[in-house]
This record gives sequence, C-alpha cells and structure tokens, in this order.
Amino acid sequence: MKTLVIAAHPNLGESKVNKAWMQRLQEEEDVTVHDLYAHYPNFKIDVEKEQQLLLEHDRIIFQFPFYWYSSPALLKEWQDAVLTYGFAYGSEGNKLHGKELMLAISTGGPAEVYQAGGYNHYSISELTRPFQATANLCGMHFLPSFLLQGMMTLTEEKLQESKEALVAYITNPNLRTVR
Ligand SMILES: Cc1cc2nc3c(=O)[nH]c(=O)nc-3n(C[C@H](O)[C@H](O)[C@H](O)COP(=O)(O)O)c2cc1C
Repeated sequence: MKTLVIAAHPNLGESKVNKAWMQRLQEEEDVTVHDLYAHYPNFKIDVEKEQQLLLEHDRIIFQFPFYWYSSPALLKEWQDAVLTYGFAYGSEGNKLHGKELMLAISTGGPAEVYQAGGYNHYSISELTRPFQATANLCGMHFLPSFLLQGMMTLTEEKLQESKEALVAYITNPNLRTVR
C-alpha cells in the first residue's frame, strides 16, 4: 500500500506539530510526503503532476493545522484545481475510485470544546463533512481522522507520542475494518 501525505501548512517555520509529523513521516518507505506550500507558494498548481501523484498512491492523507474550522487555503485551491470532471468525478471520472482518503489535523482547541454544548459547538466529524462528501463523490473511502488537539497543553512527550501514533495509524492497511 502506497500512501501520499499532502501536507498544507503555510508557515512551517513556526509549526510545532505539522513540521514534526512531516519529518517523522518522511522516514517511512511507503509514504510520500508532499509539502504543498513549498511546491506552490504562488498557488499555481501543476494539475497534471498532482493527478499523477494521486494515481501512484492508494491512500491519500490531507495533513493540516485546523484554520477557521477547515484547512489552510492552498489545500482548498488544490481540491478545486486537481479534482477535475472526468478525472475525479463525472460519468467517466473514476480515477480515484477505491482509494482511501484520511485527514490528519492539529487543532488549537482541545477535544472537549469540539462537541455540542462546548465552546466550538460542533465535532470535528461535523466540521469536516465537506472532505467526507468530496471523498464520497470521488468514490473514495473516507477513513476516521487522526487528531492532535489542544495546543495550550501540548508537551514534548505528547508530540513525540503523536508522531508514532500517526505513523502506526496511517500505515495500518486494515483501517476500514478496525475503526
Ligand atoms: C489563521 C488561523 C486559524 C486558526 N483556526 C483555528 C480553528 O478554527 N480551530 C482551532 O482549534 N485552532 C485554530 N487555529 C490554531 C491552529 O490550528 C494551531 O495553532 C495548529 O494546529 C498548531 O499546529 P502547528 O504547530 O503545526 O502550527 C488557527 C490558527 C491560525 C493561525
């Protein structure tokens, strides 16, 4: 199983979590880490290259810090440009059929604020529905998200733990049945 991690962080110089995740994931043989902001600082996406990358992998991960209850802007631009009619959807757009899509997200807010009655009211599952709907339209299997939440209480130990947990999670071939 080949895994593509499409990482979208606009300011990796200031990042704790996403930078650490990317560095750890780069050590994995069957994982390709693709740094979107490094490739496309001007938002001019090479659609053919991105589609080719998708074709070469079985499991696609969108990795990003939660920004305004969604992803940073370049990942949205990537979706708009790359998931074209005839490739990702439409009567002959079946190139992503059967592949898996998963999100790996860090959030500033802790887990407990993302629920009914909590400060942010909605769960991460609810807030990430557009990604799930996109996976559905493209014939992909949407897998449960990997989350690291609560930057105020993040310790070096928790960060280290999350790196290993992320690797174990995204390289597990049987996620469709275990979660
Ligand atoms: C523009 C911006 C918007 C943000 N929006 C949210 C948000 O909606 N919810 C949240 O929990 N944290 C939010 N945060 C906090 C980031 O998610 C958090 O700092 C990030 O996940 C930490 O990862 P990093 O160390 O890789 O930067 C936001 C931060 C920025 C800069």
